[in-house]
Order: sequence, then C-alpha cells, then structure tokens
Amino acid sequence: MLDPACGDGRFLVAHSNSVGVEHDGDAAAIVHARAPGCLIHEGDFFSWAAETRERFQCAAGNPPFIRYQRFTGEVRNRAIRLCARHGATFTSLTSSWAPFIVATATLLEPNGRMAFVVPAEIGHAPYAQPVLKYLARHFDLVQVIAVRQKLFPGLSEDCWLLYCAGWGGRTETIALSILDSFTFQESPPEPNVCVALQDWQRWGGRLRPFLLSSSLRSFYWEISESPQSHRFRELARVGIGYVTGANEFFHLRPSDAERLGVPERFLRACVRNGRCLTGRAITQATVDKWRRSDDPMLLLRLTNADPIPKAVRDYLDSAAGQQARETYKCRSRKPWYAVPDVTVPDAFLSYMSGETAALVANRAKCVATNSVHVVRLSGVWNLSELQDAWEQPFTELSCELEGHPLGGGVLKLEPREAGQVLLSRAKTLRHEMVAEVAEGLETMRRWRHYGQNARSLPMD
Ligand SMILES: C[S@@+](CC[C@H](N)C(=O)[O-])C[C@H]1O[C@@H](n2cnc3c(N)ncnc32)[C@H](O)[C@@H]1O
Repeated sequence: MLDPACGDGRFLVAHSNSVGVEHDGDAAAIVHARAPGCLIHEGDFFSWAAETRERFQCAAGNPPFIRYQRFTGEVRNRAIRLCARHGATFTSLTSSWAPFIVATATLLEPNGRMAFVVPAEIGHAPYAQPVLKYLARHFDLVQVIAVRQKLFPGLSEDCWLLYCAGWGGRTETIALSILDSFTFQESPPEPNVCVALQDWQRWGGRLRPFLLSSSLRSFYWEISESPQSHRFRELARVGIGYVTGANEFFHLRPSDAERLGVPERFLRACVRNGRCLTGRAITQATVDKWRRSDDPMLLLRLTNADPIPKAVRDYLDSAAGQQARETYKCRSRKPWYAVPDVTVPDAFLSYMSGETAALVANRAKCVATNSVHVVRLSGVWNLSELQDAWEQPFTELSCELEGHPLGGGVLKLEPREAGQVLLSRAKTLRHEMVAEVAEGLETMRRWRHYGQNARSLPMD
C-alpha cells in the first residue's frame, strides 16, 4: 500500500506492507519510529512519483489540501507537469489534493484500488473535474462518499471520501453514496445514486445537485427549458465592485470628512459589505440612516484628472495616507489614490450569504466595494420583475445549486455562478412541486451547515 503524503504514518501503521512518502523530515522520523517495517521516502511526492518504478496494489491517505494561493512554485509545476503527462490537465487554480490523487493512481498495478479523504469541494469545484474525468477513464469503479456531518469536527473544511477500484478499466458513471454521518466500516457503503458522466457534465461537473431527489432535478431542467425562464446572465451583467487596497483610508465617516474638510464632490455613498444589503432597495433614506450613524460610508473618490484641494492633499499626505500608499493595490496603480472601477450599478447582489442571497435595487446612486457584486440590467426584464423572480423559493434553490458552500454555513456566489442562477417568471410552482422545492432548499442548506454554529459573515 502507498500513502503519498503519509504525515506521521497513521495509515501506514494499519498496514503491514506499506510505503509512505513525506516531505516533512520531522513527520518522516515519527513514522520511522512508529512503523519500522514500512519503507519511507523522504521528499516531494511528485519528484519521487515521476521517477519511481515501484507499483502498488492499493493506495490510501489524506492528501494535503493546500489551496491554489499557497500551492505554488516548483512543487506545483512538477505536479501539474506530471499529471499532464498522464492526460489530466490542471490549471494553476488547483488545490494540491487533486494532482496527488491523479499521480497516485498512475502508480497502481493493474486492478489496483485506492481510497482517500478528499475535501467536499470534489462535489462542486471546477478543478475537481479533471480528477473525476481522469479517474473515470482509468478505473472500473469511481465512488464518492458524501458525508454531511463533519468527518473532522475540528476542521473548517468539510471532507468526503473517494474510493476507486479496478485500475486499468473505465466507467461511464460516478457512484455516489450519501451519508448523514460516517462510522468505520470494512467496505465502502452502497451507492445511492449512479451518476452518468453525461448527467454530471450537464450539471456543470458538479455532484452536489445529486444530493437532491431525481424528481426535483428533472423539475429543475424542465424549468430551465421553459420560455418563461432565464439564466441570470441573460438578464443582467454581474461584476465585482471596486478594490481600494486600503478600505480604512478610503472609506470616511461623515464626521471625518467634515473634520478634514473634504468637499462633497469627492465623496460617494458606498455599499461596503453584504450587511448593507437589507430590504428591496437602497434609497436616499437608507443612505441618510448610514450618515446619521456616522458609518464609514463615504468613498474618497479621486481621479487623476482632478485638481486636488489642500484639505484632500493634506489627508493624502497624512500618516494614514503614507501607510495606505504602501499597500500592494495602491502601489500598483497611478496615481495611487485613484480607485478604479467605481461605477453606479442598477442593483447589488450579495457575494457571501447566510440564509439567502439578496438582490437589492440601487435607488440612491451608490457605488460598492468588491465585498458585494454589482448588477447591470440588460433590459430583458425590468428590475422589479427580476426581484420578484429572485425572491421565489425556486431561485433560492438555484442559488444553492449554482453557488457553493464556503464553510461555516455561508453560501458563496461567484459572478460566474450568479450568472448561472435560473429564474422563472412563472408566478407559482406546480402545486406538487412546492413542498419538494422547499425540501430541496432545506437539504442544500443542511449540507452547507446553515444555522448550525454558522459563523458571522465576513465584514469586508
Ligand atoms: C493532511 S496531512 C496527512 C497526514 C496523514 N496521512 C494523516 O492523515 O494524518 C498531509 C501531509 O502531506 C505532506 N505533504 C505536503 N506536501 C507534500 C509533498 N509535496 N510531498 C510529500 N508530502 C507532502 C505534509 O507534510 C503532511 O504531513
């Protein structure tokens, strides 16, 4: 048995004839002491995997989950190159576990099998698709075991399990087992759903929709094909708000602006985070309320064409200004104080949501930071029609399916995902589907742990 990232060897000790790879010298030393019979290769797994002639009957482990922002440099390049040689293409946006799985599979003997702990992202992340496609091209059985309750309660990351058998084979399906909780068992659980690869592709390469009943999934497609329905991207453009690089410096409280003497023409009322998105519209009354509470709700909006009055110049040259101009974003633009991409959208959409994503009209000509999305209508529906459809339970379900869980109960909708949300103008759902949509919504929220020790939403 091979464990490609064996840590302190907890899988290796359970198997009398095993080989581990570990790049951390201290962990490798613990394995030597704990499992003297095992062979340990100390170093980077991908360098070793590219060279070794050893082949294994099975593999198991818990590969590192290093997100793309930190999975960088030569190790990542080697991992991506090795997988590409075997026909699995990853971009630089991949998390480390994905190439670990592919590279390990290539070291199996014919008919070999493997079992891994994987992040629940295997159910929705774009970079999980090349892994599952590769596995389906090379194993008789590819099984994903979705586990709702946390496998590792101390980790923020939800984990699922992956089991593959029959290396050298091929399959046209992914077997999905749906478990509420996992307890040790000798063999993989029976699958609940046999997901045809074609169906999986139709759902954008996501397994999470298969947590729902097949009748609800069929209903979703039925609605998507109705002439009364649209994807959000057909109705509006969704983009990100502006990035200041130094929010504290660029967002002034009304009392600060007055004390500093910044003229009104350089100040714009702004939506700073998702918590500002309450109700159906941001109106002048909303902005007045922010003002009265003296919230930091005024963006200091300067362009390189503006002659800068002394009061503003003094603020730019203050200690806070000296600090702000050193931030990465400010250093990389000219002039450093001109925040780009400040526009007035028709509406705002929450990026990270608790129960549901809010679509809020912009009736006060506000601008917004990149903590929320900015929405511009394309003119097919008016805003009130769009908001009516947005507030339907079916649309909420669509947000759950097209968005993804962020951990801690939060639903995240990237602009691309928001564009996929399905809206229908039909006022009422077919009678028999009302309860099923409500139940599906509840299921999806339970899987993202909404309402269970949910963390508060990020402020900025
Ligand atoms: C999640 S831990 C798993 C450890 C062990 N299997 C367990 O479940 O406790 C992942 C391990 O991968 C190791 N690792 C990370 N990148 C590696 C690489 N490129 N080559 C070898 N080991 C690596 C880390 O040092 C860490 O010990």
